[in-house]
Amino acid sequence: MRLTKRVTAIAAASMMAVSLAGCSGGSNETTAAATTAATEATTTAAATEAATTAAATEAAKEAATTAAAATGSVDVSDKKVGISIYKFDDNFMTLYRTELVRYLTEDLGFKAENVVVQDGKGDQAEQTNQIQNFITQKYDVLILNLVQASSASEVTDMCKDAGIPVVYINREPDASEEERWASEGIAATYVGCDARQSGTFQGEEILETETKGDINGDGKVSYIMIQGDPENVDAQYRTEFSVKALTDAGVEVEELLLQRGDWDQAKAQQIAQDALNQHGDKIEVIFCNNDAMALGALQAIEAAGRTVNEDIYLVGVDALTEAVQNVIDGKQTGTVFNDHFAQAQTAGDIAVKLLSGEAVDPVNMVDYTKVTQENAQAILDQLK
Ligand code: GAL
Repeated sequence: MRLTKRVTAIAAASMMAVSLAGCSGGSNETTAAATTAATEATTTAAATEAATTAAATEAAKEAATTAAAATGSVDVSDKKVGISIYKFDDNFMTLYRTELVRYLTEDLGFKAENVVVQDGKGDQAEQTNQIQNFITQKYDVLILNLVQASSASEVTDMCKDAGIPVVYINREPDASEEERWASEGIAATYVGCDARQSGTFQGEEILETETKGDINGDGKVSYIMIQGDPENVDAQYRTEFSVKALTDAGVEVEELLLQRGDWDQAKAQQIAQDALNQHGDKIEVIFCNNDAMALGALQAIEAAGRTVNEDIYLVGVDALTEAVQNVIDGKQTGTVFNDHFAQAQTAGDIAVKLLSGEAVDPVNMVDYTKVTQENAQAILDQLK
């Protein structure tokens, strides 16, 4: 069993609850505590001699329930978790879902056959059907990476009407929707990262280079921006905040191109190739909203005979193993670790809390980590 690689304070706090609730050792502890409480209740009932055996049994049951509730514990062995990922064909979400299933089954004690993962195939209508099926089949909790975050209110209402708690991951619903969960007491929550932080880190990585991004010394940083799916807040914020870090530092910028690459390596390769053909040496920085696209951009950079960190800079987000290795090898200027371990574990922990009937915060954020040549090897070691 792999141990938690890195958890934030929130995940660590949740894990303490889970160690009482979910792991095999933990559930023994919980059972033992509940039994003691039940025994005490029985003894007390007997001591009064007024209670009948039936009443004592009832009191024991109640005490057991109270003890379980007090530890926030729940027996998950028969609980069914329905997971839907926006599409399986996504490098980062593949790492995420692998960790999520591993954590739920190996660490939290869910039975493998009770953890079902569906492929949303990038189609919201199809994913909504999958969610409807989970509801019809009376799943106990859902963990959803929506195709369109804007569908959250409709999906939340479906789950609320069925009394099924839902944990949204990776694609953040609107703030107004999150506020609604809190104000109406709906058992829904979001686990993710604040994408503004990842954008800022990307900009800082450029500022930390020898030329601060201005390789040709013309007084401005000329860049192209390869965006993820622009409906996605991660793409919007990374695009905005990477450049903002430069302008906030008083650096002049020139955007030569902004184009959507939908998180996809092949699309990004094509975009970078066309841009390099069109703008040539004018391009000093290629910002990619994720590493899959940075890998595609690198293929185009190398094919164009350009050299990263010498005559062009390249940054991404996620810390895919290959990209981190490229940072070590000087073929990518930097990346940002999008901590799928901590996110998956937090999502699992919160699912258990919701199953226990505990109230949870509507938004649960995990930190990003900047990855440059200085710490890339340490990050790579964490990933393996
Ligand atoms: C982002 C990640 C991308 C992609 C996207 C899917 O957080 O950086 O690589 O997986 O989520 O929504």
